[in-house]
Amino acid sequence: MEVHEGTVTIEVPEQPESGVGDVVFYNPRQEMNRDITVAVLRTWQDRTGDESYLDANAASGIRGVRAAAEGWNVTCCDYDTDAVEHCRTNFTRNDLDGRIVHRDANAYMHENKGVDVVDLDPFGTPIPFADAAFQCARSLVCVTATDTAPLCGAHFQSGVRSYSAVPRNTDFHAEMGLRILLSALARTAARYDVGVTPVLSHVTRHYVRTYLATSHRATDANATMDELGYVDHCEACLYRTTTEGLIANPHDVCPNCESTRINTAGPLWLGPTHEVDFVTDVRERITEELGTATRSRRLLDTIADEIDRPTHYDQHRLSKQWGISAISMDEFLEALTESGYEASRTHYGGTTFKTNADVEAMRRITT
Ligand SMILES: C[S@@+](CC[C@H](N)C(=O)[O-])C[C@H]1O[C@@H](n2cnc3c(N)ncnc32)[C@H](O)[C@@H]1O
Ligand SMILES: [Zn+2]
Repeated sequence: MEVHEGTVTIEVPEQPESGVGDVVFYNPRQEMNRDITVAVLRTWQDRTGDESYLDANAASGIRGVRAAAEGWNVTCCDYDTDAVEHCRTNFTRNDLDGRIVHRDANAYMHENKGVDVVDLDPFGTPIPFADAAFQCARSLVCVTATDTAPLCGAHFQSGVRSYSAVPRNTDFHAEMGLRILLSALARTAARYDVGVTPVLSHVTRHYVRTYLATSHRATDANATMDELGYVDHCEACLYRTTTEGLIANPHDVCPNCESTRINTAGPLWLGPTHEVDFVTDVRERITEELGTATRSRRLLDTIADEIDRPTHYDQHRLSKQWGISAISMDEFLEALTESGYEASRTHYGGTTFKTNADVEAMRRITT
């Protein structure tokens, strides 16, 4: 079947309804992920003058073809014979040049270091490709992870195995997933004296996407490690607290309600998950021909306005906890800001928000 995205048209096989099969993979639900990637690549090229882009898990080559249409010097890599054939056809069909490599992505990245931008988009966890990616990429690593259940602690042991960290299934599960992923990526990069700065990240129910600017300096890798730490979360009252550093020192008792139902997660990335200037620049480069322009702009606006805190709350969950019916989000957030606290919506869900008020202050102010 033919698929149109942005300015390109590609050929992909009819996809099995279950989403599982051995045909070359294409997921229409990831169009916004790819549209935002195009806007990120425009921003990155304007800022750095970078030229080379590796689509390390290319499948149909849709990301690579779209990057080539933006003027990038593209390599598409896949170890699947049919995928490589599709990539060839799709570059030719769009009259674009691109290098197509039939290879294991890790082998290719180890042998071809110094690519400006590396994009990882495998099935499930990207961690098996992270070591090679941080050695191969010169300035930006883009990562999609679709294993959201392990990342957010719903599939606990799988999360522990993949990410060498303890995820917990909390009411901020989407952000838990992102911060577990960022932690594992940061620790991987640091092994090669590479520091990372997340310039943009977003999460849906189906995937986590993040863009990490890299710096090949040991001192920057040290600074990256300083962004890691732990979150203690009280299941009884939803109070959270964070501890910086790699030495876990979990609370036995909740400082707010004295319950012992404390869940500790980590090491998590506690630092910023985006840079506001970067997000604003990407938003400006979302143009009309992008199929998800409206949704992408809305998402980027929300992210740019999010206050920088390591966890978010869910207003409905809190109201349930307090045994009251929820007031409107606007009223709720206004009550917090009028009392001198910071508060913002977040992109993690319609009823989610961030604030520097703790649960007790929130309850006092909004009920
Ligand atoms: C989720 S698909 C990629 C989707 C594509 N990037 C898109 O946006 O539509 C993952 C691809 O990674 C490829 N892949 C998995 N392991 C690989 C490896 N070790 N080396 C190269 N490609 C690999 C698979 O063959 C598959 O085509
Ligand atoms: Zn508590």
